[in-house]
Order: sequence, then structure tokens, then C-alpha cells
Amino acid sequence: MNLLYPIQTPRTLVRVVDAGDAQRLLRYRVLNREHLAPWEPLRESSYYTLDHCIQTLADSREAMRLDRGYPFVVLDLTGNEVIASFTFANIVRGAFQACHLGYSIAASRQGQGVMYEALSAVMPWVFRELDMHRVMANYMPRNDRSGKLLERLGFEREGYAKRYLQIAGVWEDHVLTSRIREV
Ligand SMILES: CC(C)(COP(=O)(O)OP(=O)(O)OC[C@H]1O[C@@H](n2cnc3c(N)ncnc32)[C@H](O)[C@@H]1OP(=O)(O)O)[C@@H](O)C(=O)NCCC(=O)NCCS
Repeated sequence: MNLLYPIQTPRTLVRVVDAGDAQRLLRYRVLNREHLAPWEPLRESSYYTLDHCIQTLADSREAMRLDRGYPFVVLDLTGNEVIASFTFANIVRGAFQACHLGYSIAASRQGQGVMYEALSAVMPWVFRELDMHRVMANYMPRNDRSGKLLERLGFEREGYAKRYLQIAGVWEDHVLTSRIREV
């Protein structure tokens, strides 16, 4: 996979972010502000501005250049609308070869199998091209949708971390899961 060339799935185009995504990213953030607020860190009001999106994309480009993280957008088939996003973050090389996966989907696309479709198309690339051995993904116990998605993607529970991430202003417990490369 060429990182900037989209993978096409039946209902989506999936690729890493690029500088031209700022307006699309802003629309995704604004439209899904209330939907995502319970599951994400507190956001400053500046998060919902074009300048912030431009900066996010510049930071993403630098993260990819340094091999620290790979942020993706999931677009509809026209390529004009961001309908979901996910990031392979905190890449560690050497003996670990591991990263963390985080994701979200638009309220209007939730519950249709779209997140699964997009992520399952990219997982083989993560193991093969990014040479990951372990992809870790963690969710709050009450986030049933996230837990089910990870289970379907082949992630296995590895533990439980108390007060693990500050979500919506509260240090929340998380279930720790991983998917490990098969060969
Ligand atoms: C977590 C999140 C990405 C899961 O999204 P999702 O749309 O439920 O995930 P999937 O793509 O796996 O879709 C599964 C659902 O689609 C349904 N579905 C409908 N058509 C389908 C199809 N063709 N194929 C598969 N599933 C289909 C499934 O039945 C399931 O719905 P159900 O749980 O009501 O039974 C989403 O809830 C979200 O963005 N939440 C807010 C942010 C968040 O929590 N991020 C993660 C923090 S850990």
C-alpha cells in the first residue's frame, strides 16, 4: 500500500491523512462534537477551528516522517467526506514493534459495520508494511460498541488498567486488548 493512495472497501476509501484534508476534518469534528465528547479527552474550543485542523495535519505529517504514528481518514466513496478516523500511534520499534490504535466514526455511520470494514482492510498492512508485532487498543468497560468492534477484529483481552486515560475530564478505567501478528 502506498500510504497516500486510498484502499477501497465496498463502502469507503481509506488512506493516511494529507494536508488537503483540513476542511473535511473540521466538518467531521464539528458535526460529531457531541457524539464523540463522552469518549475523548476534553477539547478546547480552538479544536473546532480550521487553524487547529491544519496544525493537526502538519503534526500528523511530522509523526509519519519520524515513524511515530500513522493517522488515517476513512472517506465516503466520493472521497469528499470524512466518515471516520483512526490512528496507529505511539509506535515503538526494537524488541517491542508495537503501537496503540485509536478510532472513531461519525454518528451518522455508526452501527453499520463501516468501522470494521475500514479497519479490517488496513490491519494486514499494519503487520506487514509497518512491521508491527502487536497492536494495542483499550476501551472503557461501558463502551460496548468499542469492545465488540475489537473482538470482531481479533483483539484479545490482556488486562484491566485502573484510571488509565483522562476521558471527558475523568480518569477512566480501561480494558486492555491487543492483536498480535500471526506469523
Ligand atoms: C467505537 C465505534 C468506532 C464502533 O463503531 P460501530 O459502527 O459500532 O462499529 P462496527 O463497524 O463494528 O459496526 C458494528 C455494528 O454495525 C452493525 N452492522 C450493520 N451492518 C453491518 C455489516 N454489513 N457488517 C457488519 N456489521 C454491521 C452490527 O450489527 C453492529 O451493530 P450492533 O452493535 O448494534 O449490533 C463507534 O461507536 C464510535 O466512534 N464511538 C465513539 C468513539 C469511541 O468510542 N472510540 C473508541 C474509544 S476506545
